[in-house]
Amino acid sequence: MKEIPQKAAKEAKELRVSIERHNRLYYQLDSPEVTDAEYDRLMRRLEELERQYPGLVRPDSPTQRVGAEPIEEFGTVTHTVAMLSLDNALNTEELLEFDAQIKRFLKLNLETDIEYAVEPKMDGLAVELIYEDGKFTKGSTRGDGFTGEDITANLKTIRSIPLSLREHKLKAPQLIEVRGEVFLPLNRFEKLNQEREETGEEPFANPRNAAAGSLRQKDPAVTRKRPLNIFCYGIGATKGASLSGNTHTEILEYLKELGLKTNSEAIKVKSIKNAIDACIRLEESRDSFDYEIDGAVIKVNDLNLQEQLGQKARSPRWAIAFKFKPKKEPTVIEAITLSVGRTGAITPVAELKPVEIGGVRVKRATLHNFDEIKRLDIREHDTVVVQRAGDVIPKVMRVELEKRPEGTEEFKIPTTCPECHSDVRRDKAILYCTANLTCPAQVKGSITHFVSKRAMNIDGLGEKQIAQLLESGIIKNVADLYALNEERLADLDRWGDISAANALEAIEKSKNPELTRLIYALGIRGVGETGARLIAEEFKGLKPLTDLRHGLEGSEEEKHAEILHKQLCDIHGIGIEIANSVIDFFSEAHNRQVIKGLVDAGVKHKQQKEAEGRLANRTFLFTGTLRDLSRDRARDLVEREGGRTLSSMSKNVDVLVAGEKAGSKRREAEKLGIEIMDEEEFKALLNLKTESE
Ligand code: IVH
Repeated sequence: MKEIPQKAAKEAKELRVSIERHNRLYYQLDSPEVTDAEYDRLMRRLEELERQYPGLVRPDSPTQRVGAEPIEEFGTVTHTVAMLSLDNALNTEELLEFDAQIKRFLKLNLETDIEYAVEPKMDGLAVELIYEDGKFTKGSTRGDGFTGEDITANLKTIRSIPLSLREHKLKAPQLIEVRGEVFLPLNRFEKLNQEREETGEEPFANPRNAAAGSLRQKDPAVTRKRPLNIFCYGIGATKGASLSGNTHTEILEYLKELGLKTNSEAIKVKSIKNAIDACIRLEESRDSFDYEIDGAVIKVNDLNLQEQLGQKARSPRWAIAFKFKPKKEPTVIEAITLSVGRTGAITPVAELKPVEIGGVRVKRATLHNFDEIKRLDIREHDTVVVQRAGDVIPKVMRVELEKRPEGTEEFKIPTTCPECHSDVRRDKAILYCTANLTCPAQVKGSITHFVSKRAMNIDGLGEKQIAQLLESGIIKNVADLYALNEERLADLDRWGDISAANALEAIEKSKNPELTRLIYALGIRGVGETGARLIAEEFKGLKPLTDLRHGLEGSEEEKHAEILHKQLCDIHGIGIEIANSVIDFFSEAHNRQVIKGLVDAGVKHKQQKEAEGRLANRTFLFTGTLRDLSRDRARDLVEREGGRTLSSMSKNVDVLVAGEKAGSKRREAEKLGIEIMDEEEFKALLNLKTESE
């Protein structure tokens, strides 16, 4: 291996320290000091150095968070100290009994106060992280408490898990087994589910399932895309730990000092009475956290007392979980109604006998789709169990069949749209109204989406106002919003001068959006924010899309659609279904008409920002076998430098990188006069040095 100059080694070390510091600032302390671009630049520089001098690569380098290949099966890990579970207390009496038992066991006077630590019980997945000489070497699931699965590669993708411990004030111990809970923050959970629905994937039932599913992915690249997070709450075996204190809360301090993420809600209290108060406060504020908590954990704070107390079969005597009121309750479905969304998707909704679930009154719950109704055999008048998770829409989980009254009927799947009575079309489990442009529910939904914050961000126009504008015939589509004026609004009920002026101002202000926002706002089925950005980057405007069929006839039309379709499919990240949906959208004359209306009204997107980087605006295609780089890695490199990659030959390709045994694509490129590079030239372009140099 090539000798590493001292200068490079020093730079790499500084980069690693700096990157991990920014990770900590961003993921643990929520106070980033650098922009994403600056962070990426540091990361790229480190990658470059490591590529140049492979001897610099170390398992704890931040570049290794994404390095692993998919695996066939998880290995097993035996926990040196069993990962116990907790006994539950369902009410305050049981907490008092827990305290009394401890005092009896320790032969203490029942009047003595015991110091406790109280912390949220996170509803995620328990994991163990092993650090040897400060390096994260192995991570596993809890499994049955004795043996878990080796999920090291997946855990490494979680950026709040340091790959090496911080040795700021203390030296890292020889060995420390850290226990914690991996979870998916609630806002991320909702976003993930939204994206899954947009791409036709089954959404996760709750954040816990999403976290568990993500951690048990065979391909760490998938886990990396899930914004998982962790709170560390304890330790197993240690060797050489310079733990100064003798309490649980000091362990938490110690973990924090080592750069591990702990829950700042953890507190210490003087007595069981104060512990109970703390539990109640946590329960009252449970909805204010950005993660799901299903209880509070009370732990005897003194480690010596913990040791004296020891454990029962599967749980310690020194800790207990105070379970919060369940977020699941039974109630009766009074009716099943149907709601039609902006894409025409018809969703069944359960109208419930109002019930309080975890402190919130619930009257409606989603039934998700018709397959789900069939699978659970949900009927009107059934008693069902409804679950609420965070701010997520309540969901019907199951039917209590034994409570089904006589004479109920199986739910009938509608054959026409409940809003406009047009035909319906079924796509997988979802039923759609086919009258996209005339169905009032869809028109209202699509306008509501258009004005929403992440789309055109038109404040002052809520669903109610939109419904009113539609009903009064003042608007028929989104383009009509731009023709609104004070006079027209003045005739409407409930619109004061101020609200009218505010709405008009917000409409005016929205006329110059980013292209991504505009494409997203159009509400093309399957095109979420990411898809919109990719399309914006590729086409730089709407014209190439709205020009579809323009002036072309018969087979010419189809040819044009085919070319566009191919161009869409070639975008890394856009699949065939989204491409179909985009083509369908722009083939529809009415949609093109509305876009023309927007343009005529003065809506003009900002110039699409040019990608920055050495390969900005250059499109690469790889063919043949590359010797040193995997295809994915090569594509990644191009994209990081602001370039684009395609997977098939077209006139949009600027450079063909031809590896060994390149065949027809090479000939095609020659014919089209496209620049051809071999692997060495490609690497040189990126300043990647070869081993032989
Ligand atoms: S302490 C011996 N603390 O709850 C102590 N557990 O039933 C064992 N959990 O598997 C765990 N938040 O996944 C502890 N602050 C917390 C926790 C917590 C969540 C989970 C953990 C464990 C389960 C215990």
